[in-house]
Amino acid sequence: MTSAVHSFSVGSFQSSNNIWLAPMAGVTDGPFRSLCLRGGAGVVCAEMVSAHALHYANPRSLRMLCVDEREKPVSMQIFGSDEQTIAEAARAAEARGADIVDINAGCPVKKINKAGAGCVLMKDPVHLGRLVAAAVKAVHVPVTLKTRISLKRGVLLGDQLAHIAESEGASAVIIHARAAEDMHGGEPDLDSMARVCRAVKIPVIGNGGIHDGKTAQAFFDAGCAGVMVGRAAVGNPFIFKDIQEELEGGTPAPLGPRRRVEIYLALIEENIARYGEKIGIGRSKKTAGYWLRDFPNAADVRGRFVRMESLADIRALFQSVVF
Ligand SMILES: Cc1cc2nc3c(=O)[nH]c(=O)nc-3n(C[C@H](O)[C@H](O)[C@H](O)COP(=O)(O)O)c2cc1C
Repeated sequence: MTSAVHSFSVGSFQSSNNIWLAPMAGVTDGPFRSLCLRGGAGVVCAEMVSAHALHYANPRSLRMLCVDEREKPVSMQIFGSDEQTIAEAARAAEARGADIVDINAGCPVKKINKAGAGCVLMKDPVHLGRLVAAAVKAVHVPVTLKTRISLKRGVLLGDQLAHIAESEGASAVIIHARAAEDMHGGEPDLDSMARVCRAVKIPVIGNGGIHDGKTAQAFFDAGCAGVMVGRAAVGNPFIFKDIQEELEGGTPAPLGPRRRVEIYLALIEENIARYGEKIGIGRSKKTAGYWLRDFPNAADVRGRFVRMESLADIRALFQSVVF
């Protein structure tokens, strides 16, 4: 394989590489982002934040925009439905250190869609263009749009949306190569991805099902300038280095269950340091299935782990089963 990995520019922002962490609500918080940066991600994306909630100075949403240097470079994602609140939210993200501001137009979650945000924005490209323009006007950092290849399988929209985003000043588009109706399942539509890449001059960052060098290379072959990894980074935050190594002709050593559990424990400790023991452990439990796997009694360990409330108990459990 020829190397598709390189430093690349998104507007005025220069990224050290083009393999980024995708935004994941409930997952890509500060501790996880800093772990992925150590694991080789060029840029890490924060969890989506409601523009409406920021407008009302919701403390939880404001806290989600707090980053320290170990969690940068960071792209902060906002979601909303009207130009004024999107502009305000973009400014709030920039003021808190966003290197890039990203607008969500791909989320298929009903609650978000009912508020006129996420993937329903794909139905009205002109309005979506106005949101992009409002954010671009509001901040100095680059603005990107993350959307889907289509709403319904086989009915391509991504090329039109990418084109509008480009016309309104977006510095890149991120395309999840699955239809919104497919949520997070199914194969990415790489033929349509190639059409999106041909439709614009700004970088297209491809996403959907990337879990190794081969699946990343397929997106580069379709014409993407960069890729974003989502779920495959949960349970292996070093996947960014692994993909790079594979694309450069190497064979990365697989992450065994023992090392995976060690990294998970370190993440749980980071979460506790950040959020306190109760919330830190609670947040960590959401991704247990990604971390506690591939060893004989994994299901039993997960079952015991999710009932635990103290770090001491968790340490003892992990010690007894894996180390
Ligand atoms: C738990 C979870 C939360 C997500 N939250 C967001 C989000 O906040 N914003 C967003 O644009 N996409 C979100 N996504 C979608 C991912 O960014 C990504 O597009 C999707 O998971 C496909 O990539 P993958 O196949 O590499 O996981 C989320 C996905 C998951 C699984």
